[in-house]
Amino acid sequence: MRILAIPGSLRRDSHNRVLLRAAAQLAPDGVTVTVYEGLESVPVFNEDLEGNDHEPRGVIDLRQALARSDGLLIATPEYNQSVPGVVKNTIDWLTRGGPGPGLAGHPVAVTGASTGPWGTRIAQTLLRQMLLSVEAYVMPHPTLFIPRVESLLDVNGDLADPETRHRLQALVAAFSVWISMVSPAASADANRVARR
Ligand code: FNR
Repeated sequence: MRILAIPGSLRRDSHNRVLLRAAAQLAPDGVTVTVYEGLESVPVFNEDLEGNDHEPRGVIDLRQALARSDGLLIATPEYNQSVPGVVKNTIDWLTRGGPGPGLAGHPVAVTGASTGPWGTRIAQTLLRQMLLSVEAYVMPHPTLFIPRVESLLDVNGDLADPETRHRLQALVAAFSVWISMVSPAASADANRVARR
């Protein structure tokens, strides 16, 4: 089972990217979490470029990464009590225009970390609403809001807090079950891999 993980931040030392790298380490057997590193190459959405022969390379790469995945895990920061433009822009590009259905019918899980006290609670709520509107299969539970994230890292900048790591591990495990529930084909592939 392949999970594409998108951090909603382009910042080099993004806490949300750190979170997803930890998720990759904590994934259960048979589940691969790949952190997407190409969002810098995705331009601001422009309907004139959408779905034609001149789509930017960064958008084509993003679409292909989504199509190769069985599920999408988004870790979003919160900017001004909302979703950062990077996240909104990514969803706008993936809504339509590509060869496949994009996010419609694709399993998606949401988490996020912020330096504030509410841990992206508002951003995640708005993001879930956005994903429902594009007919993604959004995992309802568990939720994971990570406040004061800078206090949960070790000296190398990795996620160190045992409780947060445990809850992140539970989130990824639950997401793999969710993917199996809503996408039987992905589940069958995972079972084949597990039997090898
Ligand atoms: C923030 N931050 C922030 N945090 C929060 O909890 N609620 C908020 O509304 C905001 N608003 C906000 C606006 C802007 C423009 C910035 C740059 C930052 C702080 C934010 O959570 C923090 O910078 C995170 O570390 C950003 O995520 P990454 O880049 O570390 O993944």
